[in-house]
Amino acid sequence: MPYFEWTAELIIDRGAIDEDHLLLVNLVNSLHDAATEGLSPSTVMERMAELVFYTQDHLLREEDVMAAVGFPNLDSHKQGHIELMAHLHALQRDYNSGQATTALQLASLLRDWLSNHIREADGELRQFLQDSAPPAALAGSLSG
Ligand SMILES: [Fe+2]
Ligand SMILES: [Fe+2]
Repeated sequence: MPYFEWTAELIIDRGAIDEDHLLLVNLVNSLHDAATEGLSPSTVMERMAELVFYTQDHLLREEDVMAAVGFPNLDSHKQGHIELMAHLHALQRDYNSGQATTALQLASLLRDWLSNHIREADGELRQFLQDSAPPAALAGSLSG
């Protein structure tokens, strides 16, 4: 079983947001592998940088989607994203200054944070999209 397992309860939009989340799940697993399999610090650092980059990239894309559909809780949702990035940057700095255990802390923080955040906070977007889907679109998706 992978360190961070993708499950159906993480599905939000069957589109770009799910693709991002799945990529992040895979990158968390890849960082965790690098840290537990004793790969070189430069490999760990590279995977950590990739994970931090794609996390930020995802959060911004998600905020754009939320703004575009008029998601009502955007401000508080953004605040959660900002706090996560601050935490990730702090762990990344610690690793780069020689604290080797922080790679596993970063993988574990992201696994726990993403799994809760996707199911609960991003889940509000799934609900919002479902509630605001026009009947015609719903009928189309049901028959298609
Ligand atoms: Fe997300
Ligand atoms: Fe989010």
